[in-house]
Amino acid sequence: MKELIKELTEAFGPSGNEDAVREIIKKHVAEHVDEVRVDPLGNLITLKKGKPKSGVQSRKIMLAAHMDEIGVIISYVDDKGFLRFTRVGGVFPLTLLGSRVVFADGSTGVIGREKPEKRDEFPRMDKMYIDVGAVDKEHLNRKVGDVAAFVRPFVDLGQRLTAKAFDDRIGCAILLQTALELKTTPHDVYFVFTVQEEVGLRGALTSAFGVEPDVAIAVDVTLTGDTPEAHPMAVSLGAGPAIKVKDRGMLAHSGVKNWMANTAERLGVPYQFEVLEGGTTDAMAIQTSRAGVAAGVLSIPCRYVHSPSEMVDYDDVQNAVKLLVGLLSGPVDLG
Ligand code: CO
Ligand code: ZN
Repeated sequence: MKELIKELTEAFGPSGNEDAVREIIKKHVAEHVDEVRVDPLGNLITLKKGKPKSGVQSRKIMLAAHMDEIGVIISYVDDKGFLRFTRVGGVFPLTLLGSRVVFADGSTGVIGREKPEKRDEFPRMDKMYIDVGAVDKEHLNRKVGDVAAFVRPFVDLGQRLTAKAFDDRIGCAILLQTALELKTTPHDVYFVFTVQEEVGLRGALTSAFGVEPDVAIAVDVTLTGDTPEAHPMAVSLGAGPAIKVKDRGMLAHSGVKNWMANTAERLGVPYQFEVLEGGTTDAMAIQTSRAGVAAGVLSIPCRYVHSPSEMVDYDDVQNAVKLLVGLLSGPVDLG
Protein backbone atom coordinates (compact mmCIF):
# COMPACT_ATOMS: atom_id res chain seq x y z
CA MET A 1 0.00 0.00 0.00
CA LYS A 2 2.95 2.34 0.49
CA GLU A 3 3.10 3.42 -3.17
CA LEU A 4 -0.60 4.27 -3.05
CA ILE A 5 -0.18 6.19 0.23
CA LYS A 6 2.72 8.17 -1.24
CA GLU A 7 0.73 9.06 -4.35
CA LEU A 8 -2.29 10.17 -2.33
CA THR A 9 -0.49 12.17 0.37
CA GLU A 10 1.70 14.07 -2.09
CA ALA A 11 -1.30 15.13 -4.18
CA PHE A 12 -2.66 18.69 -3.94
CA GLY A 13 -6.11 19.00 -2.41
CA PRO A 14 -7.07 21.74 0.06
CA SER A 15 -10.82 21.88 0.79
CA GLY A 16 -12.79 22.82 -2.32
CA ASN A 17 -9.85 21.90 -4.55
CA GLU A 18 -9.97 18.10 -4.43
CA ASP A 19 -9.87 17.51 -8.20
CA ALA A 20 -6.37 16.01 -8.38
CA VAL A 21 -7.06 13.65 -5.48
CA ARG A 22 -10.39 12.60 -6.97
CA GLU A 23 -8.69 11.73 -10.29
CA ILE A 24 -6.12 9.54 -8.54
CA ILE A 25 -8.81 7.72 -6.55
CA LYS A 26 -11.04 7.27 -9.62
CA LYS A 27 -8.18 5.62 -11.46
CA HIS A 28 -7.55 3.14 -8.61
CA VAL A 29 -11.14 2.38 -7.63
CA ALA A 30 -12.71 1.90 -11.08
CA GLU A 31 -12.02 -1.81 -11.51
CA HIS A 32 -13.18 -2.76 -7.99
CA VAL A 33 -16.65 -1.16 -7.98
CA ASP A 34 -19.81 -1.33 -10.09
CA GLU A 35 -20.79 2.35 -10.16
CA VAL A 36 -18.88 5.63 -9.97
CA ARG A 37 -20.43 9.08 -9.83
CA VAL A 38 -19.53 12.58 -8.68
CA ASP A 39 -22.18 14.67 -6.94
CA PRO A 40 -22.61 18.45 -7.44
CA LEU A 41 -20.36 19.26 -4.47
CA GLY A 42 -17.56 17.03 -5.80
CA ASN A 43 -17.94 13.94 -3.64
CA LEU A 44 -16.81 10.75 -5.38
CA ILE A 45 -19.50 8.16 -4.70
CA THR A 46 -18.76 4.57 -5.71
CA LEU A 47 -20.83 1.44 -5.20
CA LYS A 48 -19.81 -2.19 -4.93
CA LYS A 49 -23.03 -4.18 -5.28
CA GLY A 50 -23.77 -6.97 -2.86
CA LYS A 51 -24.47 -10.60 -3.74
CA PRO A 52 -27.35 -11.84 -1.56
CA LYS A 53 -26.32 -14.57 0.87
CA SER A 54 -28.93 -16.82 2.49
CA GLY A 55 -29.48 -16.03 6.14
CA VAL A 56 -27.69 -12.66 5.92
CA GLN A 57 -29.72 -9.46 5.83
CA SER A 58 -28.36 -7.19 3.12
CA ARG A 59 -27.70 -3.61 4.24
CA LYS A 60 -26.69 -0.39 2.58
CA ILE A 61 -23.32 0.51 4.09
CA MET A 62 -21.48 3.77 3.54
CA LEU A 63 -17.75 4.08 4.17
CA ALA A 64 -16.48 7.66 4.09
CA ALA A 65 -13.03 9.21 3.92
CA HIS A 66 -12.35 12.83 3.07
CA MET A 67 -10.16 13.83 0.14
CA ASP A 68 -9.47 17.39 1.27
CA GLU A 69 -6.57 18.63 3.37
CA ILE A 70 -6.02 21.88 5.24
CA GLY A 71 -4.37 24.79 3.44
CA VAL A 72 -4.15 28.55 3.07
CA ILE A 73 -5.88 31.03 0.74
CA ILE A 74 -4.64 34.41 -0.49
CA SER A 75 -6.71 37.27 0.93
CA TYR A 76 -4.66 40.32 -0.12
CA VAL A 77 -1.73 41.18 -2.39
CA ASP A 78 0.47 44.09 -1.35
CA ASP A 79 2.31 46.57 -3.60
CA LYS A 80 5.54 44.58 -3.53
CA GLY A 81 3.86 41.27 -4.35
CA PHE A 82 3.79 39.76 -0.87
CA LEU A 83 0.65 37.71 -0.24
CA ARG A 84 -1.44 37.91 2.90
CA PHE A 85 -3.47 34.79 3.55
CA THR A 86 -5.98 33.12 5.80
CA ARG A 87 -6.62 29.51 6.75
CA VAL A 88 -8.62 26.82 4.95
CA GLY A 89 -9.46 24.49 7.83
CA GLY A 90 -7.57 24.14 11.11
CA VAL A 91 -4.11 25.53 10.30
CA PHE A 92 -1.96 26.49 13.31
CA PRO A 93 0.32 29.53 12.77
CA LEU A 94 3.19 27.78 14.57
CA THR A 95 3.35 25.08 11.88
CA LEU A 96 3.77 27.70 9.14
CA LEU A 97 7.06 29.38 10.04
CA GLY A 98 9.81 28.03 7.82
CA SER A 99 7.27 26.15 5.72
CA ARG A 100 6.86 26.08 2.01
CA VAL A 101 3.47 26.02 0.36
CA VAL A 102 2.53 24.91 -3.15
CA PHE A 103 -0.25 26.18 -5.41
CA ALA A 104 -2.41 24.08 -7.73
CA ASP A 105 -0.11 24.84 -10.69
CA GLY A 106 2.89 23.51 -8.77
CA SER A 107 4.51 26.87 -8.01
CA THR A 108 6.04 27.35 -4.58
CA GLY A 109 5.92 30.04 -1.90
CA VAL A 110 7.72 30.42 1.42
CA ILE A 111 6.17 31.80 4.59
CA GLY A 112 7.64 34.94 6.11
CA ARG A 113 6.79 36.94 9.19
CA GLU A 114 6.75 40.61 10.19
CA LYS A 115 9.26 41.70 12.81
CA PRO A 116 7.83 40.54 16.16
CA GLU A 117 7.47 43.11 18.94
CA LYS A 118 9.13 40.71 21.35
CA ARG A 119 11.60 38.03 20.35
CA ASP A 120 9.58 35.09 21.72
CA GLU A 121 6.22 36.40 20.55
CA PHE A 122 3.70 33.77 19.46
CA PRO A 123 3.34 33.97 15.66
CA ARG A 124 0.01 35.25 14.34
CA MET A 125 -1.32 34.45 10.91
CA ASP A 126 -2.23 38.06 10.19
CA LYS A 127 1.43 39.01 10.74
CA MET A 128 2.63 36.46 8.19
CA TYR A 129 2.80 36.49 4.41
CA ILE A 130 3.67 34.23 1.49
CA ASP A 131 6.71 35.18 -0.57
CA VAL A 132 6.61 33.59 -4.02
CA GLY A 133 9.84 35.25 -5.07
CA ALA A 134 8.18 37.96 -7.14
CA VAL A 135 10.50 40.87 -7.90
CA ASP A 136 7.52 43.24 -7.99
CA LYS A 137 3.72 43.17 -8.17
CA GLU A 138 3.69 43.44 -11.98
CA HIS A 139 5.51 40.13 -12.40
CA LEU A 140 3.37 38.27 -9.89
CA ASN A 141 1.27 35.43 -11.24
CA ARG A 142 -0.94 35.03 -8.14
CA LYS A 143 -4.27 36.59 -7.15
CA VAL A 144 -6.73 36.79 -4.28
CA GLY A 145 -8.49 33.45 -3.83
CA ASP A 146 -5.57 31.26 -4.92
CA VAL A 147 -5.21 28.30 -2.58
CA ALA A 148 -2.01 26.62 -1.41
CA ALA A 149 -1.13 23.47 0.54
CA PHE A 150 1.84 22.38 2.62
CA VAL A 151 4.81 20.86 0.81
CA ARG A 152 6.23 17.63 2.23
CA PRO A 153 7.34 14.41 0.58
CA PHE A 154 6.09 11.09 1.93
CA VAL A 155 8.83 9.27 3.88
CA ASP A 156 8.80 5.60 4.81
CA LEU A 157 10.45 5.34 8.24
CA GLY A 158 10.00 1.56 8.30
CA GLN A 159 7.30 0.79 10.82
CA ARG A 160 6.10 4.39 10.88
CA LEU A 161 5.32 6.67 7.97
CA THR A 162 5.39 10.44 7.78
CA ALA A 163 3.72 12.75 5.25
CA LYS A 164 1.45 15.73 4.98
CA ALA A 165 -2.30 15.11 4.71
CA PHE A 166 -2.49 11.67 6.34
CA ASP A 167 -5.63 13.51 7.47
CA ASP A 168 -7.34 12.04 5.57
CA ARG A 169 -5.54 10.53 2.59
CA ILE A 170 -4.72 7.57 4.82
CA GLY A 171 -8.48 7.04 5.09
CA CYS A 172 -8.76 7.27 1.29
CA ALA A 173 -5.97 4.70 0.90
CA ILE A 174 -7.67 2.38 3.39
CA LEU A 175 -11.00 2.59 1.53
CA LEU A 176 -9.25 1.87 -1.78
CA GLN A 177 -7.37 -1.09 -0.35
CA THR A 178 -10.59 -2.40 1.22
CA ALA A 179 -12.39 -2.15 -2.14
CA LEU A 180 -9.53 -4.08 -3.71
CA GLU A 181 -9.43 -6.83 -1.07
CA LEU A 182 -13.19 -7.24 -0.63
CA LYS A 183 -13.95 -10.07 -3.02
CA THR A 184 -17.64 -10.57 -2.27
CA THR A 185 -20.08 -8.93 0.13
CA PRO A 186 -23.76 -9.48 0.90
CA HIS A 187 -24.16 -5.71 1.29
CA ASP A 188 -24.36 -2.76 -1.09
CA VAL A 189 -21.16 -1.00 -0.08
CA TYR A 190 -20.72 2.66 -0.94
CA PHE A 191 -17.10 3.82 -0.83
CA VAL A 192 -17.51 7.57 -0.58
CA PHE A 193 -14.62 10.02 -0.91
CA THR A 194 -15.87 13.29 0.47
CA VAL A 195 -14.96 16.95 -0.07
CA GLN A 196 -14.74 19.90 2.33
CA GLU A 197 -14.50 17.97 5.61
CA GLU A 198 -11.94 20.35 7.06
CA VAL A 199 -14.24 23.35 6.64
CA GLY A 200 -17.32 21.74 8.21
CA LEU A 201 -18.14 18.20 7.03
CA ARG A 202 -19.96 19.63 4.01
CA GLY A 203 -19.33 16.81 1.56
CA ALA A 204 -20.44 14.20 4.09
CA LEU A 205 -23.68 16.12 4.57
CA THR A 206 -24.73 15.96 0.92
CA SER A 207 -23.31 12.54 0.09
CA ALA A 208 -25.03 10.88 3.06
CA PHE A 209 -28.32 12.47 2.04
CA GLY A 210 -27.86 11.11 -1.48
CA VAL A 211 -26.71 7.61 -0.50
CA GLU A 212 -29.23 7.21 2.35
CA PRO A 213 -27.26 4.43 4.09
CA ASP A 214 -28.49 2.05 6.80
CA VAL A 215 -25.08 2.00 8.46
CA ALA A 216 -22.03 4.22 8.04
CA ILE A 217 -18.39 4.20 9.09
CA ALA A 218 -16.09 7.16 8.61
CA VAL A 219 -12.39 6.36 8.39
CA ASP A 220 -10.24 9.25 9.58
CA VAL A 221 -7.26 10.05 11.80
CA THR A 222 -7.33 10.68 15.53
CA LEU A 223 -4.85 12.13 18.01
CA THR A 224 -2.58 10.07 20.28
CA GLY A 225 -1.27 10.39 23.83
CA ASP A 226 2.02 8.58 23.24
CA THR A 227 4.53 11.41 22.76
CA PRO A 228 6.63 13.22 25.42
CA GLU A 229 4.43 15.10 27.92
CA ALA A 230 1.39 14.58 25.69
CA HIS A 231 -2.12 15.44 26.82
CA PRO A 232 -3.36 12.18 28.41
CA MET A 233 -5.20 10.11 25.80
CA ALA A 234 -5.54 6.33 25.65
CA VAL A 235 -4.56 6.00 21.98
CA SER A 236 -1.08 5.01 20.80
CA LEU A 237 0.57 4.42 17.45
CA GLY A 238 0.84 0.70 16.71
CA ALA A 239 -1.80 -0.49 19.18
CA GLY A 240 -4.32 -1.04 16.38
CA PRO A 241 -6.93 1.08 14.67
CA ALA A 242 -9.13 2.96 17.15
CA ILE A 243 -12.87 2.47 17.46
CA LYS A 244 -14.39 5.82 18.31
CA VAL A 245 -16.62 6.10 21.36
CA LYS A 246 -16.91 9.89 21.43
CA ASP A 247 -15.42 13.05 20.05
CA ARG A 248 -16.43 16.69 20.21
CA GLY A 249 -19.15 16.30 17.59
CA MET A 250 -20.68 12.89 18.16
CA LEU A 251 -21.31 9.83 20.24
CA ALA A 252 -20.72 6.77 18.09
CA HIS A 253 -23.72 4.48 17.64
CA SER A 254 -23.17 1.82 20.30
CA GLY A 255 -24.37 -0.97 17.98
CA VAL A 256 -21.84 0.01 15.32
CA LYS A 257 -19.11 0.39 17.94
CA ASN A 258 -19.80 -3.08 19.36
CA TRP A 259 -20.10 -4.65 15.90
CA MET A 260 -16.63 -3.28 15.11
CA ALA A 261 -15.09 -4.38 18.42
CA ASN A 262 -16.65 -7.87 18.30
CA THR A 263 -15.47 -8.36 14.72
CA ALA A 264 -11.95 -7.25 15.66
CA GLU A 265 -11.96 -9.80 18.53
CA ARG A 266 -13.17 -12.56 16.20
CA LEU A 267 -10.49 -11.77 13.58
CA GLY A 268 -7.73 -11.26 16.13
CA VAL A 269 -7.19 -7.68 14.93
CA PRO A 270 -5.78 -5.40 17.67
CA TYR A 271 -7.91 -2.32 18.40
CA GLN A 272 -8.28 0.44 20.96
CA PHE A 273 -11.22 2.57 22.07
CA GLU A 274 -11.00 6.28 21.44
CA VAL A 275 -12.38 9.26 23.32
CA LEU A 276 -11.24 12.42 21.54
CA GLU A 277 -11.72 15.72 23.37
CA GLY A 278 -11.44 18.01 20.34
CA GLY A 279 -12.33 17.60 16.69
CA THR A 280 -14.80 15.40 14.87
CA THR A 281 -15.24 13.59 11.56
CA ASP A 282 -17.62 13.10 8.64
CA ALA A 283 -19.53 10.60 10.81
CA MET A 284 -21.08 13.49 12.74
CA ALA A 285 -22.75 14.84 9.60
CA ILE A 286 -23.71 11.36 8.39
CA GLN A 287 -25.21 10.39 11.75
CA THR A 288 -27.61 13.33 11.66
CA SER A 289 -28.51 12.98 7.97
CA ARG A 290 -32.22 12.60 7.06
CA ALA A 291 -33.94 10.68 9.88
CA GLY A 292 -30.59 9.59 11.36
CA VAL A 293 -28.01 6.93 10.46
CA ALA A 294 -26.30 4.35 12.67
CA ALA A 295 -22.76 5.64 12.36
CA GLY A 296 -19.35 4.90 13.81
CA VAL A 297 -15.74 5.78 13.12
CA LEU A 298 -12.62 3.73 12.57
CA SER A 299 -9.73 6.01 13.45
CA ILE A 300 -6.08 5.77 12.49
CA PRO A 301 -3.88 6.97 15.35
CA CYS A 302 -1.83 9.88 14.04
CA ARG A 303 0.77 12.15 15.65
CA TYR A 304 1.12 15.83 14.77
CA VAL A 305 -2.30 16.09 13.08
CA HIS A 306 -2.72 19.28 11.02
CA SER A 307 1.03 19.85 10.87
CA PRO A 308 3.01 19.37 7.64
CA SER A 309 4.55 16.18 9.06
CA GLU A 310 1.92 13.81 10.38
CA MET A 311 2.87 10.28 11.44
CA VAL A 312 1.07 6.94 11.42
CA ASP A 313 2.00 3.29 12.04
CA TYR A 314 1.84 0.97 9.04
CA ASP A 315 0.45 -1.96 11.05
CA ASP A 316 -2.50 0.21 12.18
CA VAL A 317 -3.22 0.98 8.54
CA GLN A 318 -3.14 -2.67 7.47
CA ASN A 319 -5.18 -3.78 10.47
CA ALA A 320 -7.82 -1.19 9.61
CA VAL A 321 -8.16 -2.74 6.13
CA LYS A 322 -8.36 -6.22 7.64
CA LEU A 323 -11.11 -5.13 10.03
CA LEU A 324 -13.14 -3.35 7.34
CA VAL A 325 -12.95 -6.35 4.99
CA GLY A 326 -14.12 -8.55 7.88
CA LEU A 327 -16.98 -6.21 8.74
CA LEU A 328 -18.23 -6.00 5.15
CA SER A 329 -17.94 -9.76 4.49
CA GLY A 330 -20.44 -10.89 7.13
CA PRO A 331 -23.74 -9.90 8.71
CA VAL A 332 -24.19 -6.45 10.25
CA ASP A 333 -24.92 -7.09 13.90
CA LEU A 334 -25.95 -3.89 15.65
CA GLY A 335 -27.11 -5.82 18.71
CO1 CO B 1 -8.45 17.27 9.85
ZN1 ZN C 1 -9.77 14.34 8.93
